[in-house]
Amino acid sequence: MTRAKLDAIRDAAPAVLPSMLICDFGDLRSEVAKLVDAGTKVLHLDVMDGHFVPNLTYGMPIIEGLRRHTDLPLDVHLMISDPLKYARPMVEAGADMLTFHVEAVEDAVHTAREIKKLGVGVGVALNPDTAIRDLDSCLDEVDMVLVMSVNAGFGGQSFNPVALDKLKLLRDSHPDLLLEIDGGINEDTIGRARAAGCDLFVVGSGIFRADDYGVAISELDAAIAAAGEQTENGQRGAGS
Ligand code: DX5
Ligand code: ZN
Repeated sequence: MTRAKLDAIRDAAPAVLPSMLICDFGDLRSEVAKLVDAGTKVLHLDVMDGHFVPNLTYGMPIIEGLRRHTDLPLDVHLMISDPLKYARPMVEAGADMLTFHVEAVEDAVHTAREIKKLGVGVGVALNPDTAIRDLDSCLDEVDMVLVMSVNAGFGGQSFNPVALDKLKLLRDSHPDLLLEIDGGINEDTIGRARAAGCDLFVVGSGIFRADDYGVAISELDAAIAAAGEQTENGQRGAGS
């Protein structure tokens, strides 16, 4: 529970982050082992409360259980109505990065500052229909912006390209900010997100519906690298 893990997340970029949402919750230990073997550097954990989003997933006990199986940084995506109510217990359970939704809170600056005080990285997320100006007040308070390319709540949805414009704007205005994308990321969409300046790519069904996690992640990594090379050669738009 230190911001040292934030450096590990930064160092991992660009990276694919498996989303623990449609994995085998009956055998988390071997799921983590398979992901580590596949080269995973950071795990993305989807916490949903059945209130901010209609779906309900898990909370501190799963985070604490995962923490016992791995030293990997745990990037916790809070799709919950009252993130500050659970922030400290999440950190005590082993979270290294807590990302709250700007739509869920009245005061994003206060929320970001309170999370930062807990000694972890802090991110702010926005859904596809939320304008980027809604983040203006808190951008200097956060370590990361999570640009949603689907409406938060469920895996397996289709990619919404509105996320790409947001990534480009954020990358241009904040060159050092960590940028993450989540929702509908696969071999076809990941390169577009990389070319738009994204650093961290959350992938659920693109990994967990594959027969071999290692092959799936390698193919995604290759698509990131190809997009980066094309950007460097000036064949694409903004990149980092
Ligand atoms: C959706 C979650 C995602 C989800 C992504 O609300 O935040 O992390 O697992 O799943 P895919 O990659 O299937 O869109
Ligand atoms: Zn997520």
